Amino acid sequence: MNIREQRYISMITFDNQVFHAQTNSTSYLIRVHPAGYLEQLYYGAKIRRAASYDALFEKITAVYGNTNVTPADSKLSLDNLCMEYSFAATGDYRHAPLSLQMPDFGYSGDFRYLSHRIYEGTYEENDLTKMPYAKVSPAHAQSDTATLDITLKDTVYPVYLHLIYTFFSKSDCVTRRVKIDNQSEGSIIVSKVMSLMIDLPDKNYNMHTFDGLWIKERHENIKKLVSGLYVNDSTTGSSSNRHNPLIILSRENCTEESGECIGINLIYSGNHYEAVEVSGYGKIRIMSGINPYQFAWTLDGNAAFYTPEAVLSYSSNGLCGLSHNMHQFVGSHIIPGEWAAKSRPVLVNNWEATYFDFTDAKLLKIARDAKNLGIEMLVLDDGWFGNRSDDTSSLGDWQVNEKKLGGPLKKLAEKVNRLGLKFGLWFEPEMISEKSSLYQIHPDWAVRIPGREHYPGRNQFVLDLTRQDVCEYIVAAVSDVLKSAPIEYVKWDMNRHLSDTYSANLQQRQGEFCHRYIKGVYEVMKRITDSFPHVLFESCSAGGNRFDLGMLCYMPQIWTSDDSDANERTYIQRGTSFGYPLSTMAAHVSAVPNHQTLRNVSLETRFNVACFGVLGYEIDITKLTKAEKKAISEQIIFYKTHRELFQFGTFSRTESDDNHVVWQVVSEDKKEAIVLFYQRTAMPNPQSDVLKVTGLLAGQLYEVETRRQYISIRQFGSLASQVSPIPITDEGVVQSVINKIYMLQSEKEQYRTYGDLLMNAGIKLSQQFAGTGYNEQTRVMGDYSSRLYVIKALPDDSLTDDSLTDDSLRMTALTNDET
Ligand code: GLA
Repeated sequence: MNIREQRYISMITFDNQVFHAQTNSTSYLIRVHPAGYLEQLYYGAKIRRAASYDALFEKITAVYGNTNVTPADSKLSLDNLCMEYSFAATGDYRHAPLSLQMPDFGYSGDFRYLSHRIYEGTYEENDLTKMPYAKVSPAHAQSDTATLDITLKDTVYPVYLHLIYTFFSKSDCVTRRVKIDNQSEGSIIVSKVMSLMIDLPDKNYNMHTFDGLWIKERHENIKKLVSGLYVNDSTTGSSSNRHNPLIILSRENCTEESGECIGINLIYSGNHYEAVEVSGYGKIRIMSGINPYQFAWTLDGNAAFYTPEAVLSYSSNGLCGLSHNMHQFVGSHIIPGEWAAKSRPVLVNNWEATYFDFTDAKLLKIARDAKNLGIEMLVLDDGWFGNRSDDTSSLGDWQVNEKKLGGPLKKLAEKVNRLGLKFGLWFEPEMISEKSSLYQIHPDWAVRIPGREHYPGRNQFVLDLTRQDVCEYIVAAVSDVLKSAPIEYVKWDMNRHLSDTYSANLQQRQGEFCHRYIKGVYEVMKRITDSFPHVLFESCSAGGNRFDLGMLCYMPQIWTSDDSDANERTYIQRGTSFGYPLSTMAAHVSAVPNHQTLRNVSLETRFNVACFGVLGYEIDITKLTKAEKKAISEQIIFYKTHRELFQFGTFSRTESDDNHVVWQVVSEDKKEAIVLFYQRTAMPNPQSDVLKVTGLLAGQLYEVETRRQYISIRQFGSLASQVSPIPITDEGVVQSVINKIYMLQSEKEQYRTYGDLLMNAGIKLSQQFAGTGYNEQTRVMGDYSSRLYVIKALPDDSLTDDSLTDDSLRMTALTNDET
């Protein structure tokens, strides 16, 4: 046995009919039951290997009343066995993960263990699946990953079911998927096939889902599991803004920092389905896969069907521990190519600045001002092609509108480059407008049901990506534009849900439409992103309608939401962070009143929230006041200084009450951190605020200081007159003039303290404004307000906990003079 074999064998063993797979901190055990079924024995915190695992077997001494038993074991009812995959019509009355109509038309399908394979690395047939999948990049050790492929065979037909598990040691994740291999001569209709099914022995969990709609995506909702079936799914044709494929099950006492939880996600961008079923015996069944809704796949003889890959992770370190696993997994195994570790530029996008109303002169003015502010890229959004001056036309006509841009795209992009900025471009390749040249030639490419009325969305049709000629057209049209000019970023949008799903090509196989559509999307994305490996692709779907691991396999970041209101973003980015790292979340500072909520949030708080992600500005920067420009250029300097931390640091949510949001990012070596303290509404005489941080080095001395930010005098309204020699009326001329050129500086707190104090006690922050007076140490917050605290290790890290005798050393609030 060579060393390579030893390594993977140590990750997955098979002894006495029990598989035991271990990652860094978890164990997964499956038994091949004597009756041929796969019994789920354990999934959770790592346990040691043992000669026997009898302790984990389900002990049945007498048949349960009113149950059906297996042919091979007259006491065994599958209805109360924890299983790895289950089958309808076998006496297990929980929902089955599989619905097959076999060649004899019966809804049977009874699969038993046949054989297995264990090997190092990811699934050998990954590329055959034509689906996105978790990879091991050359930078990561193959030996950290091992695959278990268990083959089950139907008791009658030569139809095989492969349950495929890939274990990723460092991120404590396991992926699961299924291959149905129909080696019979006849066809099978697959109307349900889950990627993952796992039964767990008790129901004492809360279920977290991430739900919403347009401009309010991925809000966390928590429900206690009681009884019955809990479903989280999408039917829009995409992973959707309704319900993200990520779900979490947490124990009652699980907090952000401690306690047990399990996360499940799906590497898929189409209709998904996750279900948790509580059985009468108090066990739970978890499933995740393609939504069976309108799904029916004809699997011909001698053909195979591959499900997408589902991801499962367990943490005993609370919800943040689980998020860290997921973030590590996404960063190491999902994000493609060079962008996995490459920092992302700060951009300005013209959408909310101009909407469709722009010229080359306006864009160049934005670019010029952007350069002065320190912005690194101009993104030209919707409206540069065909004859598009609103959303009623031209999708599909990816020819530049030279009249609007004053010449070819190349000329504009080169001018932008000469100003010192990169150039990026928006596309919506999956769509076609009725008012377009493409539609004149190919009306049949638009998705609709012949003879029925169409249900439009944003005045456009979806292109039929189940057709190869449509895919070829998109690849060619997008590639031609990308080759024509120095384009270094693409925003790939998809602005409507699928409806009237039908393709003339599919004839009687219309139940395959949605899955084939998303496979078409994957094909064109793969071909285009492979051909332009240095271009940074950002996926978008009316904001965050397709925020999922499938998209992230091709495009390293996603426009998180069309809602850039900072208060709403604290919900959206928070919810997103449970499963996706900050480097995947594009976050922009936009105008106030906000275009989605009409809310007024200060410029600094808009930045403080947006910098927990990939920062951009989506505001008419040519119209900013002098004071705003000064504030923004300082924001950008700050972001660039800490960019690695914001995009690739360890992100955690900190426990706080409903009125506060506390987020933090910590560097890998734990020597640097930034904490956001966000307050929704101001309270009169509030409780003192305490800043606690997690994940630092206990014995390390740190310096903590407020990022000095600006406060508009407007925030004081008519109170400003109390301190000003001239009267300042609220909304008056004087206020408006001052406001353009001057803003107050916020308080600056600065401390030297050890990690243990920061993590266990926290810093009592300066008093908030309480209506009784103001000086430069007063924390003027108000509604929707925030601060960032920068934490840096000081060179004096030789002092350890034990060597500390003088308490005054542990925390020294520096006076203004000292600073
Ligand atoms: C979608 C996107 C926006 C913008 C518009 C352009 O709504 O989410 O960011 O690109 O389309 O039409």
